Order: sequence, then structure tokens, then C-alpha cells
Amino acid sequence: MSDMIELSQHLRMNGKDEENLLDRTVQGVITRPLDRPEGPLKVSGTATYADEDHPPGTVHGWFVRAPIAKGWVTGLNTAELRAMPGVLAVMRDDRLIHHPAQGQQGSAPPQGPSEVTYAGQPVALVIAETFEQARNAALAARLQLIDQSDRAVLAADPSDYETPKGKQAATGDLDKAMAEAAFTLDEQYSTPSMSHSAMEPHAAVAWWEDGKLTLRGSYQMLKTNVAELADAVGVSPKKVRILSPYVGGGFGGKLGIGHEGVGAAIAAQRLGRPVAIALHRRNVHEATHRRSESRQRVRLAADAEGRLTGLGHEAWVSSMFGDDFSEPVTQATPFTYAGENRVIGHHVARLNLTAPGSMRAPGEAIGVPVIEMAMDELAERSGLDPVAFRIRNIPDKDPTSGKPFSSNRLEDCLRRGAERFGWADRPQPGTRREGEWLIGMGMASAVRVNMLQNSKAAVILLADGTARVETDMTDIGTGSYAILTQIAAEALGLPMERVTTVLGDSDLPPSSGSGGSFGAASSGSSVLLAAQALRRELARRMDCAPEDLTLKDGHAIAANRARPLSDVLAGDSLRAEGEIDRGLNETTTRQASWGAQFAEVAVSTVTGEIRLRRLSAVFAAGRILNEKTARSQCIGGMIFGIGSALTEEVAHDPRDGHFVNRDLAEYHIPVNLDVPHIDIEFLDDRDPYANPMQAKGIGELACCGTAGAIANAVANATGKRFRDLPMTLDKVL
Ligand code: MOS
Repeated sequence: MSDMIELSQHLRMNGKDEENLLDRTVQGVITRPLDRPEGPLKVSGTATYADEDHPPGTVHGWFVRAPIAKGWVTGLNTAELRAMPGVLAVMRDDRLIHHPAQGQQGSAPPQGPSEVTYAGQPVALVIAETFEQARNAALAARLQLIDQSDRAVLAADPSDYETPKGKQAATGDLDKAMAEAAFTLDEQYSTPSMSHSAMEPHAAVAWWEDGKLTLRGSYQMLKTNVAELADAVGVSPKKVRILSPYVGGGFGGKLGIGHEGVGAAIAAQRLGRPVAIALHRRNVHEATHRRSESRQRVRLAADAEGRLTGLGHEAWVSSMFGDDFSEPVTQATPFTYAGENRVIGHHVARLNLTAPGSMRAPGEAIGVPVIEMAMDELAERSGLDPVAFRIRNIPDKDPTSGKPFSSNRLEDCLRRGAERFGWADRPQPGTRREGEWLIGMGMASAVRVNMLQNSKAAVILLADGTARVETDMTDIGTGSYAILTQIAAEALGLPMERVTTVLGDSDLPPSSGSGGSFGAASSGSSVLLAAQALRRELARRMDCAPEDLTLKDGHAIAANRARPLSDVLAGDSLRAEGEIDRGLNETTTRQASWGAQFAEVAVSTVTGEIRLRRLSAVFAAGRILNEKTARSQCIGGMIFGIGSALTEEVAHDPRDGHFVNRDLAEYHIPVNLDVPHIDIEFLDDRDPYANPMQAKGIGELACCGTAGAIANAVANATGKRFRDLPMTLDKVL
């Protein structure tokens, strides 16, 4: 009988990381472009997503949704629906209309009983033996309504906006700087309401056993999802287990527990049977989050040498009544460029539209392209090369807070990117023509704040010299299985095949989850810390100091003595828990990931169509953990950016705010023919203040700036500026 010996290591990031274990390890799996261990399951259809595995006896739910933008539900033809084939229950439970939360536990439902605050809101749930029977009955629902849609706020007037105090900032005198500047810009921009459009629609299946709820769903952050679900259902979090082993994309749309999770849980409790709810694409669009539309005003003032003396960035966005979240459009503006006179403004209108929430790089995804469009235009007005203009205005510390940067590689990204793309060959605006096509090149900086979240993981080194990683971390297509396996393998000197990673089960040690591009750094650090605790124990057994221990190919090596791990373990198994805490570094240093994006476009003078010819980017995001999954993240992010530049836009019906384009046939995400060759380079980079891996967020960095580079390329091609995204044909022609 072997023993399980328990170990642990906890670290708060206060100060510089000196230890840097990953620079001393020799296994050679970290950073390499290794395949995803779960890849074969995904491509062979054997990885089971939320709605692909129903326990025996599962019944199905379909939502009845509000046909009005504002008002009250007072009744439903319940008896009629109840008598329809296969129908088991018709539920008008007010817990259902708790709109999907923002990953904030304990946030109160924004609306009272049966209140309707947007068109498409789930207001009742029909459960039937089959999916088709549930849908059939739900479509026959007749709601009694007090319709106050004539009082709904569907588009904001200037007087509708709140100006939250903590979200405004001003230093110096921007008006004076504008008046005295050699070159100025003062322009308005707009970006549309957008939809996450993850490939896997939201789905959940729930069942109860002995007062305990288990829910298989498609979620990003299980620790908070458990708290939200327990809160919504009214049980202790200890009685809730969530399983999300595979998630077919999230982009922020699955950060919080959704209607489908709450609905499945309460229906399963009532019926004593497992209940599955899988959302139709239309339901995903209308009743999960969207990204807020924005209006933005940018003011820039520069002296005769092109040095910024003033910078203003004000944003107007929308939110749901009672919601804390609003798109932090100006998030990176305070520290990206210099300029001593500054105004940051943030204004929020409460609208009767589907609630806005976090969507890939909330803030920077729409704020950075706009700043970059403005910077490009001012460079042109001052006769400076856009790359040189940006480099001239990179501050040596955060100009707003005075904090030092933990690391700032923006200049390196810009220089390397310009060289790689062939920026020197850029035409004068509106001068390069190939038949009907005008050709142009444009560029933009990319920047995204870097974050670390509390995260725990266990690494178990079994007596046979294999290891298992356990954490409730999710893999939303990002590569968590791959990088966590690599980190444990690297730190323990094991080949990848000897490490198994188990994720997506809330009974495992609670992680950061996937969000805000902090997942890899946070969960990866916890795995590294657990492995460090194991290394200390192995060193003790090898009679050497931890720094004198080498682990490679399943062997422990010290003082020229190599022993198989199974020998060193001598029948014991070791289980170590690692925990990372953000500590003070994020408040004492300014942390961000950096990049430079370049685009070449062709614009048809006949149709106004914009064809992308090339996209190229250089990113600096600390240590790259897996070159293949990192590159895939960046390609995905840049394609996201193509969508926001050229095609993606939710059209809200002006009468009731409902989504006019509520499926992927009409909400246009870029497809293969829209996407050119995408060229990506990662700078060799480390950030010693970020975390013990010195890695930073990358998934969201890549979509910040892309739309700016494309818009600037279009301006270079046509000699005209388009300040209203997306740049659809009707605007360009
Ligand atoms: Mo992200 S928008 O925090 O999944």
C-alpha cells in the first residue's frame, strides 16, 4: 500500500520573479509547438461537448421568450401547453429571468418578478420528453402581457447617459493644448453592437442526486459559475458540481451561468429527471450577452515635431438596467501614448436591449482600433510616418499613474513588424491602382492589459513516475490542456505522454477559469508552483538542494547520479497543490501585452468591396508557452478583428430592439475567403513582474488593433477616412 504525501506551494506576486524555474529546466517541451493532447478526440468527434452526452431518462427544455421590449408577463396558456404531446411541465419561475450574470457572484437579478426588459428575454420554460415536443409546445405559447414597449429606451439620446464618477479622469488642460498645438485632430467614431458567435451554442444538462446538483454545461469560469448557479437555484455551493470538459468557444459569452443552466437545474429538481436545454443560434444571439455599440470622441494635439501634448478619449456605451458592467473602451488609453494634457470619459446609457457583457478583449477590442485610426490620421496631417509617429510617443512610464511598465516592447514590435511587412514600400494615399482596385497599406499598435487571478491546481506524481494535473480550469479552444500538460512535463522532467491533464470539473482545485486572457498565466502558474513543491521533495530524497536537481526523461539527476523517478518515489505518490495570487505587482507596475499589426488591402472602385491581401503582426507577450496554440490564438484574434473592421454588426430593429440578424447567415463573421494569409511573429520576451512563468495574455491581444490597421490601409488606398465600423460596401462606395 503506497502513501499519498501532501505538499503545497503558495505565491503572491509581490516584486520581481527571480527564480525563473522554466529557464533552468531541460526537458525541452515548453514553448515548443506541440499538438494538443485532446486534439484527436476533437477531430474524431469523440470529445463530448455540453449537449452531446445525456444521462438516461433526460428530458428537454425550450424557452418561451418575450415578444416585447419592456413590460410584464401576467399569464400564459399553461393548461393548453401542458396538454400537448410529451409536455411534462410549463414553468413560469422568476429564477429563470435572472439574466446571464457577468461572472460576478451574488449580483442581484436586475429585474423584479416577471418583468421584461428586452425583446427575446426568456420568461417561461417548457419541458417535454423530446426536444421537438418541447419546442413545439413553446412555439404555441400565448403570453398575457402588459406591453410598455412604447416606453422602452432602444437608442440613447445625449440626456440618457450616466457619467459614473470613478470612470472619468483629467490631467492638465486639454482645451489649451488643442488650442496651442501645431497639429490637432478632433473626430467622432462609432462601432456597432456585436455578438460573440461561439461555434458551440450555449447548452446545459442538469440532474440531482441526493440533494446534489450536477450540471454539464459550456462555461468558462467554473468557480464563479458554481457560486452563481447555487445562488440562482437557492442551494449551498457545496451542493453544486459543474462539468465543462470541452467548450466550443466562449469569447466572454460563457463567462457567467446562463438561462440554460438555471433553467435546466430548476426543471431537473422539479421533475426528478435530468433536463437538457440547448439554445438555438437565434436564442444565443438574443438572450445571451452582446458587445455594446460605442460612440467615441478622440482629441489629439501634437507639437511641430509630432510629440503629443494632449490626448482625449471619451466613450458612450450601453448597458442593462442595474448591471455593473459596461464596455471599458478607454482601458488602454491612459498608458499607451504620451501627452501630458488628458481627458478620459466614460458614459453609459441603460437600454432595453439584450444585456451587453464582456466580449473578447472588452474595452481594447473597440477602443484601440479607434485610437489607432486617430493616430494614423494625425500622423498624416503632421507629415510623419505612422510608425515613427507612434514610436516618438511611447512613454517611458505610465503617463497617467506614473507607474513603471513591468515591460514595454511596443517599439520593438513596431520596428520588427514594419521590417517584416515591408512597410517602407507603402504608397502615398490614393495613388496605387491595379485595374478597378485601389491598393493601400496600414498599421496599428496592439495593446491589452495583462492580468493575473487567484488560481489553484494539484499535480500528482504517481509511484510509477507518471503525473496527473488536476484543476477546474477550462479549455475554451485556447489550448489549456496542451500548455498545462507542457508546464507539468517541463517542470517534472517528463515526456508529454507521461502527463495527463484533467480539467473542467468544479470538484477539482478552483482555478482562475478562462477569461480576460489571464487563464494560461494564472492556471499555468498554479501548476508550476505545484510542480515546484514536488521538485523540492524529490531534491530532499536525492540529498541535494532544489536548484541542483535536474529532472529529465523520467529521471532525477544530482551530482552525476541519475535515478528513475519510480526509484526515488519508492512506492510513494506525491500530491502537491499550487496556488498563485495576484499580489501587489498589478498595482505597482503597469502590465500589458504589446504588438504591432500591418494590413494590405485592395478596395474596388466599382463595388466598394474591401479585400484583405495580407495581415502581419508581431507580438510580445512574455514567454510563449506553446508556439502552435499561441499562434492559433493570434490568428483567431486577428480574424475577430477582420470581422469588426469589415462585416460584423448586430442590427437592432428600431421598433423593439430585437436582433434583425440573429443567425450566422445574416450576422457576418469572416469566412475562409475573407481571410488572407496571416503572418505572425512572437518576440522573445519575459515579464518578471507578471507571474512565475513570465508569460502574459495573448488571446485578446491579437484582436486589439487589427481593425485599426485595416481601416488605416483603406484610408491609404482610397485617400478617405471611414470612422464608422464596420466598413461595409455601402459606406465605402
Ligand atoms: Mo473574456 S471577454 O474575459 O472571455
